[in-house]
Amino acid sequence: MKINNICCIGAGYVGGPTMAVIAQKNPKINVTVVDINKERINQWNSTDLNKLPIFEPGLDKVIAETRGRNLFFSNEIEKNIKNSEMIFISVNTPTKTYGDGKGMAADLRYVELCARKIAEVAEDDKIVVEKSTLPVKTAAAIKNILDETGSGVHFEILSNPEFLAEGTAMRDLEVPDRVLIGGGQNKSGNAAINALVKIYSSWVPSENILTTNLWSSELSKLVSNAFLAQRISSINSISELCEKTGADVDEVAKAIGMDSRIGSKFLKTSVGFGGSCFQKDILNLVYISKSLGLDKVSEYWNQVIILNNHQRERFAKKILTSLYNTVAEKKICFLGWSFKKDTNDTRESAAIYVADLLIDELANIAVYDPKVSMNQIFNDLNKLSTREKNKNEQFLRVEPNPYDAASNSHAIAILTEWDEFKNLDWNKIFNSMKKPAFIFDGRNILDKNKIEKIGFVYNGIGKPQ
Ligand code: NAD
Ligand code: UGA
Repeated sequence: MKINNICCIGAGYVGGPTMAVIAQKNPKINVTVVDINKERINQWNSTDLNKLPIFEPGLDKVIAETRGRNLFFSNEIEKNIKNSEMIFISVNTPTKTYGDGKGMAADLRYVELCARKIAEVAEDDKIVVEKSTLPVKTAAAIKNILDETGSGVHFEILSNPEFLAEGTAMRDLEVPDRVLIGGGQNKSGNAAINALVKIYSSWVPSENILTTNLWSSELSKLVSNAFLAQRISSINSISELCEKTGADVDEVAKAIGMDSRIGSKFLKTSVGFGGSCFQKDILNLVYISKSLGLDKVSEYWNQVIILNNHQRERFAKKILTSLYNTVAEKKICFLGWSFKKDTNDTRESAAIYVADLLIDELANIAVYDPKVSMNQIFNDLNKLSTREKNKNEQFLRVEPNPYDAASNSHAIAILTEWDEFKNLDWNKIFNSMKKPAFIFDGRNILDKNKIEKIGFVYNGIGKPQ
């Protein structure tokens, strides 16, 4: 099947960058990204490239090259579904907050709405591609909805999970470790797989394009995130052991990572992993395993989450105990709010949890983040905490620069590893703080010796105490 027009439903962190790169590498294919969120589409269409709805290094350049040429952002969902031979579903699949599976299973209502919309408006055969991360076997449900509610046209379902990480999305899309495409193991399934392979072949070497059956592809996405997160929880568990024994977790990570069987990536200890996906996808894996009666498998993966929660709480507790068991009315400066550097995404960021725990102890928090807005910070906190909104405003404020955030504070907590934090004028900050001046480096980005020389009391994660 020749693909001339692609429609992607969902103009988020995945839909936007992914389709921008597909359009860049396939100038003869028209790619339209649609969304129900009008404001988001307006932002994607903004002439000022600083106003794109997501911050991702290098994205503005690709948008400048492709937008209006063969990449379009639109609210006209039905028209674009109708006009396209291939439709990607790239909508959010958050953890369910209600009903059966609450707090664990993936909420598939947005995906189902997309399937119903496609069935309703399609007038000819379509290839429907799952780009969202979905529980294994979802393709069967989508196929069922499409076939039962469609007008008799043929729908072929593919699974093409996305592996990009935020902050490095453009590079991850440009040179992916692999592109995974799962499809039906029959003639029409193979034809659909080949059509999608052809699109990626414009820039991805064929040895990096892996084709599988649908269920392997769907499951591999969940397992990939689970393995990555499991490495972080593993090294974070060791960080606590290091603090008790005098070992240094960064030295341990380096030593074990040099074993080529283990490898050095994803062994950086931290205040806990965040982001929209690790927790959600592991919870989903835990839920699926449990639903299938695999209790031991389910418990095994749940431990990754338990350890991550523990790491965040441990960090907050460390601040409390170090500051003589009270932070009430003490100013604590937070450097960073996003869940990692080079993104404005704050979903599940450890900063939110640590702030909430410290506000429970009546601390006054001053936050500086180079990319996250004040509105976002309060939205995050209000969503998590059971406190009334105005109470959070009483205890937290957002500052436009790190120096104002740190001035007169008792302690600095580094929550995000933004590069600019390494090169601050730490002498100036020290002089502006209450003494003793504490630093809790939740990312181990500062040089302990240099910082201690200035006069700070330095606490890194998993560092000798
Ligand atoms: P997002 O929340 O940034 O974007 C989803 C978009 O879908 C929103 O703009 C929303 O308005 C839109 N939407 C929802 N329902 C719709 C509907 N019925 N019709 C039209 N638009 C609709 O989400 P995201 O971060 O882009 O994630 C999307 C999927 O990709 C998720 O399943 C996620 O697990 C997966 N994923 C995310 C990442 C990441 O780094 N964020 C990486 C890999 C995979
Ligand atoms: C992650 C995966 O890396 C992507 O492959 C996947 O596509 C994506 O989830 C997804 O499905 O959404 P992302 O969450 O954007 O990407 O970012 P990561 O770089 O994986 O970082 C996740 C969290 O782990 C961050 O809070 C980060 O600070 C933390 N982390 C990462 C560590 O604490 N230590 C590490 O060694 C690596």
